[in-house]
This record gives sequence, C-alpha cells and structure tokens, in this order.
Amino acid sequence: MLSVVPTPITVRVPAKVNLHLSVGDARPDGYHELVTVFQALSLTDDVTVMAADEPGLEVKGEGADEVPTGPDNLVWKAVRLLAEHCGRDPENPGLHISINKGIPVAGGMAGGSADAAAALQAVNQLWRLELGRDELSEIAGKIGSDVPFSLQGGTALGTGRGERLVPVLARHTFHWVIALDREGLSTPAAYGELDRLRAENGNGRIGEVEPLLEALASGDPRQLALLLGNDLQAAAVSLRPGLRRTLRAGVQAGALAGIVSGSGPTCAFLCTDADEAVRVAAELSGAGVCRTVRVAHGPVPGAKVVSEEPAN
Ligand code: C5P
Repeated sequence: MLSVVPTPITVRVPAKVNLHLSVGDARPDGYHELVTVFQALSLTDDVTVMAADEPGLEVKGEGADEVPTGPDNLVWKAVRLLAEHCGRDPENPGLHISINKGIPVAGGMAGGSADAAAALQAVNQLWRLELGRDELSEIAGKIGSDVPFSLQGGTALGTGRGERLVPVLARHTFHWVIALDREGLSTPAAYGELDRLRAENGNGRIGEVEPLLEALASGDPRQLALLLGNDLQAAAVSLRPGLRRTLRAGVQAGALAGIVSGSGPTCAFLCTDADEAVRVAAELSGAGVCRTVRVAHGPVPGAKVVSEEPAN
C-alpha cells in the first residue's frame, strides 16, 4: 500500500512580475534565452490536493471559467511528472485538486505555473515523498519556464529560458498596483510578435541587468523605477494597443513607473509606499482603462503549505 496523508493539503503560491526581462534570440528548441529578474507578489492562488477514488480538478475564483480543467492543465503535468519520478501510475494518480484563483488568468503573472508549483509541493507532502528543494525544482523546470520561480519565490535572477535561478538580495518591500486587462494574452503569441517586430525593425533591447540588481539591494523604489524594463512590452503593446493608455494612466495617477508584466497584458505600477499604492489604485480604477485593479507587495515567499485540514 502506497503511503498517503489522509487529510487535504493546501499550498499557497504567489504571482510574479518581471522587473527586468531581456529576451535573446529564439533557440533551436523554440524557446528564447532570457535574463530576467522575478519578484513574487502578494496576489496568490490556493491549491488543495486530496486523495480521491474519482480524480477531478475544480477551479474557483476570478477568471476560473477560462482555466482548462482537462489533462492540459499544468497541475496535471506536474502530477504526471511527479508520479513518474517516484514510480506511481501517472495516468491514475488518485487525486482531487481544487484551485482557488487570486492570480489573473493568462495575465503574464505566471498563474498556471504557480498552480503547477503548488501542486508539486502539495503532492510531495500528500504522498510523503520528502523530495528536497533541488529535486522539486528540477521537475518544475520540465513543466514550464516559470515554475521553478513559483516554488522559490522572493526575488531571483533567472537565466536559460528562465528556469535557472539565483536568489537576489532585495532589502525592501516594494508596493505595486496591478491593472488587469479585459482579456488574456497568449505567451507564445507575445514571443512570436517580438520576433516579428525584431525582424521588421531591428533590435530595441533593454540594457544590462546589473544596475537593477544594485537598485534592489539599495531598496530605493525611485531608483528601481528608473530601471524596470521588459523586452516583451513592445510585443504586448503591438498586440494590444490599448495598453499604451493603461501604462500612461498609471503614471499620471502617481505611480513611479509602469511596466507590462511578463508577456502581458497585465500592467504593474511601482509606487513609493503602501498608502500611495492604494491612492494610485483608486485613481487608476476611475480612469476606465482596465478591467480591475489590485494592490500588491513583494517580495513574498514561494509555494508553501498553509493548512492540513481534517478530512470530513
Ligand atoms: O515554458 P512555458 O511553457 O511557460 O512557455 C510557454 C511558451 O512561451 C513557450 O512555448 C514559448 O513559446 C514561449 N517562451 C519562450 N522563451 C522562454 C519562455 C517561454 O519563447 N524563455
């Protein structure tokens, strides 16, 4: 008999924003070489796993209707890889998974990757696998480029396709306003558009990452604001021209700077402090340029167990 914890396990996992996202050329495997700085933000999903005869996936919360519940959901990819790794049947894992969404769906904030990271962490505990951080991170990298960071959290420098991580010193809590768009954007489409724009108009790449790392170490949001950069922003704006207006409105509302988050269309605005973020959020909300706004702070920890509820 395989060992299973008899109670559901819930893992909370953060969204991410890329403070710096420098995209190189497409590699033969279709991925792009990246130099990126991730920061984990206080918008979170909760993923609960429990042993079940009838396997199932249930998604609740904002944007839940847009999340696939079939085998292509990244949580099932996480479960399959974990089952293969530990010699269980990947096609019959005997699990029910429930996701409560707080991270925007298809928003460039690694929501799907976060759920996969949470599932890895939760199933590791449910099946009493006791896999260490490095082993989980290696499996995470096979699921998707952002999954290792969702496990790790904090602030980190990512290279390769984003999966090779080194923690970065960030002394300060930074305060953000997050503007959610009405519709998601596809990540492959944003990378494809960047390749197209570069083939058409030449380069246009953001600079080196070192100055941003120094700003993070100093903890000064004003210095950090000057150095935020994202090569995918031009692609996201080209696919969704209305984002230009959103980015302008956030700065007009008093943010220090605004940036498209990852492949978009979510925009993230850095503010001087928590009170200012609440004020900017209220003003941006009234400007009618986005579906809704959220206030968040970072860095926060990566995927972690928040409860082992008694079974009922
Ligand atoms: O790794 P992940 O599945 O999250 O990536 C989704 C898609 O984003 C890839 O299929 C690829 O089109 C694009 N991508 C990329 N270069 C990266 C990361 C992602 O081209 N470094």
